[in-house]
Amino acid sequence: MLSLLFLMMVLPLSVGGSDPTLPFMEYLDQNHLVCVKWGFDNPQGNITFKLLINTTGWVGFGFSPNGGMAGADIVMGGLGSSGIYFKDYYATGDSMPLEDEQQSYTLLSANETDGQTIMTFQRTIQSCDDKDFSITTQAIKLIYAYGTTDQINYHASRRGTKEVNLLNYMPRATITGLNYLSARVNNISVPEKHTYYHCKVMKLSTLKTKHHITMVEPHIEHPDIVHHMLLYGCPSFVTQEYDTQCYKGDISDACFEVVASWAVGGGVYVLPETVGIPVGGETNERLYRLEIHYNNPNGDKGRTDSSGLKLYYTGKLRQEDVGTLTAGILHFDQMEYKIPPKVDQFHTYGVCNTSIFSQTLGHSPDLHVFGVLLHTHLAGRKIRVGHFRNGKLIGFLGLVENYNFEFQEVIPLGSVATIKQGDELVVECTYSTTTRTTATKMGLGTTDEMCLAFLLYYPAIKISSCISHPNSYHPLLQTMSSQIFEGTATPSRDDIAEYERLLKKVPQIQVVSSSENNHTFYENGIIREMGNSPTVACQTNPNNNNNNNSGSSRLGTSSIFIPAGIILLFLLVGIL
Ligand SMILES: *[C@@H]1O[C@H](CO)[C@@H](O)[C@H](O)[C@H]1NC(C)=O
Ligand SMILES: *[C@@H]1O[C@H](CO)[C@@H](O)[C@H](O)[C@H]1NC(C)=O
Ligand SMILES: *[C@@H]1O[C@H](CO)[C@@H](O)[C@H](O)[C@H]1NC(C)=O
Ligand SMILES: *[C@@H]1O[C@H](CO)[C@@H](O)[C@H](O)[C@H]1NC(C)=O
Ligand SMILES: *[C@@H]1O[C@H](CO)[C@@H](O)[C@H](O)[C@H]1NC(C)=O
Ligand SMILES: *[C@@H]1O[C@H](CO)[C@@H](O)[C@H](O)[C@H]1NC(C)=O
Repeated sequence: MLSLLFLMMVLPLSVGGSDPTLPFMEYLDQNHLVCVKWGFDNPQGNITFKLLINTTGWVGFGFSPNGGMAGADIVMGGLGSSGIYFKDYYATGDSMPLEDEQQSYTLLSANETDGQTIMTFQRTIQSCDDKDFSITTQAIKLIYAYGTTDQINYHASRRGTKEVNLLNYMPRATITGLNYLSARVNNISVPEKHTYYHCKVMKLSTLKTKHHITMVEPHIEHPDIVHHMLLYGCPSFVTQEYDTQCYKGDISDACFEVVASWAVGGGVYVLPETVGIPVGGETNERLYRLEIHYNNPNGDKGRTDSSGLKLYYTGKLRQEDVGTLTAGILHFDQMEYKIPPKVDQFHTYGVCNTSIFSQTLGHSPDLHVFGVLLHTHLAGRKIRVGHFRNGKLIGFLGLVENYNFEFQEVIPLGSVATIKQGDELVVECTYSTTTRTTATKMGLGTTDEMCLAFLLYYPAIKISSCISHPNSYHPLLQTMSSQIFEGTATPSRDDIAEYERLLKKVPQIQVVSSSENNHTFYENGIIREMGNSPTVACQTNPNNNNNNNSGSSRLGTSSIFIPAGIILLFLLVGIL
C-alpha cells in the first residue's frame, strides 16, 4: 500500500486517462496510430511528453531540422522481454541513430496495454547538449518511427513527421456534424507535363446569410500529383465562371485575395475558436478561384483528378472575420530580379508598410495575426517575417530557420501578434543556389523563386496583398546587375555581396492591392535591419561538459533538401 502510494506520487503522469498536466495532444499520423501529448510549467523549465503508439514493438520520437533523420534528436524505447529500455539518440543520416553521450531525457513511465505502447518522458526545454534540440517558441518538426518488434531496426514506412509549435500550441477541433462547402475540380484531365496549374472559377455558396468557415480540410484524391491548392476570392468585376488552365490571361487571374490554402505536408486547418472566414450573405454572388498545382514528374498519361478543399462552416457567427494578407516580394517591373548561381546564402527582402493601408481604405484597424503560411520555391532555406514598429524590430510573425519545401502548412503563432497602423513587415528569404549554374529569377516557373508570407489575421480588411520589389532602375543596381549576370568573368564574392546589399538598399517599390484590385504605390520603401533570430540563453548545467551556448545552433544547420516541383504560382500580368 505504501509502496503503491509512493509510486503514484513519483509517477503522477502515468495515472488516469486525460491528464491536466499534459493538456496538448496531436496525432502525428493520419491513421491516428501515433499520438503525442505534452505539457510544461514555464518555457524555461521542463517539458513532459507522453507518446502513445499502437505497437508492441519499439517506439521512437524526436525533433528534426527538416522532417528527415539527418540531424535529428531522437529518443527510442519500449517494453521488451527483458524489461523497459529507453535512450537518447541523435542521427547523422538515414542510418541507425547513435546513442547520445549525454542522456538528456528522463523516462517517467513506460507501459504496454491493448497493443499500445505508452511512454512518458521529460527533458528541459532549453538544451545545452549540442546533440539535442532546444525547444523554442517557434514550430518544430516532430518525427516518429516505430517497429513491430523490440529489436530496433529499420522502420520502413512506419515513420512520419509533423510540424508542431510545442510552446505556442493552438488547440485543434475535431470534425463532427458540420456542414461544408466544396471547392473542387471535377474529374479534370491532368496533362502529361511536369507542372500544371488548373483553375476553376466558381460560386462557392448559396448561403443567403453570412456564415463563418471554421475549418479547411484538404480533399486530395491523388496525393502523388496534387501539390498545392489555393482558394482566392474574386473582385466584383469578375463574373464569369471557368474551369481550365490557370494564367492564360483570363480576367479571373485578378482573383487574388487568398481565402484558404493547403500545401503538401499540410493537414486540416482549424481556425481559432473566436474567428471565422466570412462566406455567404452579401458576398453570396462572389466568385472564387480554386487553383491546384499538379506535379506529374514522370509525365504519366491519362491521369484525372477531383481534388479540392472542404470548407466547414457554421451559421453561429464568431466574433471576428478572418482575412489573409499576402506579403513579401513580387516582381512587377520590366527588369528581372535575379539570384546569382553558386551562392550558399543569398538574402532577399520584401517590405509591407501598413501606413499605406489607410491611403487605400481611409482607416485601418489593428490587425491581429494568429497564423502564417510561408512560401518559397526549391532554393529557399529560411524565411523570417520581421515586425517593426517606429523603426524597431518588435518580433517575428514567422520564423522558419529550416525551410523545407515538402512540409508547408499554416503555422499557428500561438500568441497573437498585433499589427498597428503604420507598422512595417519585412519578409526575408534566404536561398542556396550552390548546385545551380545559371541565375534564378523571381517568377513563376519550377526553377524560379518566390518569397511570400500569407498572414492570417482578424478583423478582415479589404486589402489582399502588400508586396514590394527593389527599384531595379536604380543606376547602381543596374550596373552591378549587368556586371554579375552579363559579364563574361565569374563574379567575385565581393561583387555578389555588393549586389545583395544594393538590392536591399535601393528604394523599394511597394504595392498595396485591395480586394477590388485597386493598387496603391509607394516608391521609397526601405528595408530595416532584422538582426539575428532570438535565442534563449543556455543555462549552466553541472552535468554538462558540452556547455557552450550552442543551444539553438543546431536549428540553423539544415543541410538536407528534397527537391520537388514548384508549388505556388503567382501572376502579376493579370493584376497590374
Ligand atoms: C526537470 O527534468 C529533469 C530531468 O528529467 C529533472 O532532473 C528535474 O528535477 C526536473 N525539474 C523539475 C522542476 O521538474
Ligand atoms: C500497465 O498498465 C496496466 C493498466 O493500466 C497495469 O495493469 C499494468 O500493471 C501496467 N504495467 C506496467 C509495467 O506498468
Ligand atoms: C490504438 O490502441 C488503442 C488502445 O488499444 C485503441 O483504443 C485505439 O482504438 C487504437 N487505434 C487505432 C487507430 O487502431
Ligand atoms: C473521368 O474522365 C475520364 C476521361 O477523361 C473518363 O474516362 C472517366 O470515366 C471519368 N470518370 C468519371 C467518374 O466521370
Ligand atoms: C476600386 O476600383 C473600382 C473600379 O475598378 C472603383 O469603382 C472603386 O471606387 C475603387 N475603390 C477604391 C477604394 O479606390
Ligand atoms: C512607410 O511609409 C511612411 C509614409 O507613409 C514613411 O514615412 C516610412 O518611411 C515608410 N517606411 C518604410 C519602411 O518604407
